[in-house]
Amino acid sequence: MKMLITGGAGFIGSNFIFYERERQPETEIICVDKLTYAGNMETLAPVLDQPRFKFVRADIADRKAMDELFAAEKPDVVVNFAAESHVDRSIEDPSIFLQTNVMGTQVLLDASRRYGVARYHQVSTDEVYGDLPLDRPDLFFTEKTPLRTSSPYSASKAGADLLCNAYQRTYGMPITISRCSNNYGPYQFPEKLIPLMIANALADKPLPVYGQGINVRDWLYVEDHCAAIDLILEKGRVGEVYNIGGHNEKRNIDIVKRVLGILGKPESLITYVTDRKGHDMRYAIDPTFIHDELGWLPATKFEDGIEKTVRWYLENKPWWEKIVSGEYRDYYERMYGKR
Ligand code: NAD
Ligand code: DAU
Repeated sequence: MKMLITGGAGFIGSNFIFYERERQPETEIICVDKLTYAGNMETLAPVLDQPRFKFVRADIADRKAMDELFAAEKPDVVVNFAAESHVDRSIEDPSIFLQTNVMGTQVLLDASRRYGVARYHQVSTDEVYGDLPLDRPDLFFTEKTPLRTSSPYSASKAGADLLCNAYQRTYGMPITISRCSNNYGPYQFPEKLIPLMIANALADKPLPVYGQGINVRDWLYVEDHCAAIDLILEKGRVGEVYNIGGHNEKRNIDIVKRVLGILGKPESLITYVTDRKGHDMRYAIDPTFIHDELGWLPATKFEDGIEKTVRWYLENKPWWEKIVSGEYRDYYERMYGKR
């Protein structure tokens, strides 16, 4: 079996490659990644020299490159992780989000159709459902919740999902979609909440909490997301959407305090800053469908996952210190300097 994994030099894609390597070592993996600021070859070092693994640097929105790649490799399965993934960057400049997330998906769908892949899986997000009010803890996102996006990022991901639905229905393509809640774990780029707070706390820098810190996210350990995608590829039904989440809702401020607690750093580092524009209040996944259909359940409790994650960042300082000392510094200054 030959699997083409896009965005594999990023956070979840790389974790998925490691997961598949363990679970199905006989699978041939081709990782396609443009290596944007978020892609990191060092992450892939453990698999780069392995047999049945190949890395190709390319843009998923480059039609010619994708056509040549599909013609040469004829993958059986495509899993599309490649995306611009950070909401704050999408608010600053939406264009690249539409280019990669929408147009890139279309190019991959066209190539998958032309070369007759047996399965195309689109890695989507719970953000396509918009948000839920804080005072209605009884409400959750199900697969039937209407799409109602808030940010240019989520709009681009919803656009890609709609294209997938259209290609599935119009051309009868074997497509599945998954929509997961917030992931955390090793190799997450330090612009995202948890690694950013770990990096800042270790440097005794202020921890910038947006607004009042009461927004709620539903956190899932990255390996549980990988296991869910693997199960969907194996047993999922074509044409279905699968929501992935582990009923683990936390307020941002509580996440930040937990990180400080594990690191033994003072809460006086917390600094409330100007809120994100259009900031979604609460995400909460109802995972009943994937549990009932495929038997998926998360394996990692938040208390264990967050300890493991903080320990990983402590033990892998060179991986993220290189990032926070490079061009990321300009981004940080732009995003947080006058906030
Ligand atoms: P990430 O930003 O860490 O990684 C994205 C990867 O895609 C990088 O390696 C980057 O170089 C690559 N890439 C970007 N543009 C590309 C292009 N045009 N062509 C080829 N490669 C390109 O993102 P992530 O957090 O690992 O997210 C992966 C996927 O999962 C995304 O589709 C995202 O929408 C989705 N998702 C993320 C989360 C989360 O909490 N991080 C939750 C649900 C869904
Ligand atoms: O829900 C899935 C989504 O989760 C994915 O689709 C996205 O790719 C991923 O980035 C993530 O989006 P969020 O916007 O929820 O993640 P982020 O880590 O950027 O922020 C989490 C929460 O923390 C959010 O409410 C904003 C807040 N926050 C974030 C940063 C970076 C802060 O308070 N301060 C910060 O500095």
